[in-house]
Amino acid sequence: MAKDTLRLDKAVCHNFDLTRSVAVKLIRQGLCEVEGEVVTDPSLKIASNAAISLDGCQMSADEGFKKQIYMLNKPDGYVCADRDNNNPVVINIFSDIPKFTKMHCVGRLDIDTTGLLLVTDDGDLNHQITSPKYLVTKTYLATTKDKISEKDIALFAKGLKHPEEKSRYKEALLEIVSDNVALVTVTEGRFHEVKRLFECVDNEVIELKRLYIGSLCLDETLSEGDYRPLEDGEIEKLFEPYKAYSDAFLKK
Ligand code: URA
Repeated sequence: MAKDTLRLDKAVCHNFDLTRSVAVKLIRQGLCEVEGEVVTDPSLKIASNAAISLDGCQMSADEGFKKQIYMLNKPDGYVCADRDNNNPVVINIFSDIPKFTKMHCVGRLDIDTTGLLLVTDDGDLNHQITSPKYLVTKTYLATTKDKISEKDIALFAKGLKHPEEKSRYKEALLEIVSDNVALVTVTEGRFHEVKRLFECVDNEVIELKRLYIGSLCLDETLSEGDYRPLEDGEIEKLFEPYKAYSDAFLKK
């Protein structure tokens, strides 16, 4: 929630992505207007919904404090990193959003994984979704090279051990959709987790798409590369487990 009033220099540096000292300097130079009036006192308390402009560029005072959270249908070939020398990065898809450089991917999908990816400037929310401590479920649609065996369901549920990992994986839910397609739900979010789970049972993932985080489903009206802000109630859904996982492992 925005506070009712805030200091002008604080609002200016947040909204226009400046250090406090640069914001103070520009305000003192007479470049800042509040509700159309030039203000040169950086410590002035202004209403959080006041219209402020800096050198002609307009924004409401509390706009810079609002947290942004978007759902993206991640396209193949994009890297979840702030920068990369060889491949396009997901964050640049958001270049028309104000202050997009402050936004980060919520967890990482591999370069060739598509589907539901959240992008936000809310560090606390990011931590809660990615930390294994909060047990947020992530559900993937995996297509494999070889036929998926019914026996794998119990192996995934028990917790598999991959030769390149020191510790066993926590239980994972495997729901077979067809011979070579399954839904896999995990909570840890370890490096290449779904691909490695299938390696443990001598199979190979050839296509991977994330469909859910918690009970929030990828909006299938979004084509790859499209995004939209999360709507009311959708943040809560991130923390409700995917139903079949909850039925299998939590309601005992
Ligand atoms: N598991 C993987 O193997 N890759 C991803 O991108 C996400 C989960």
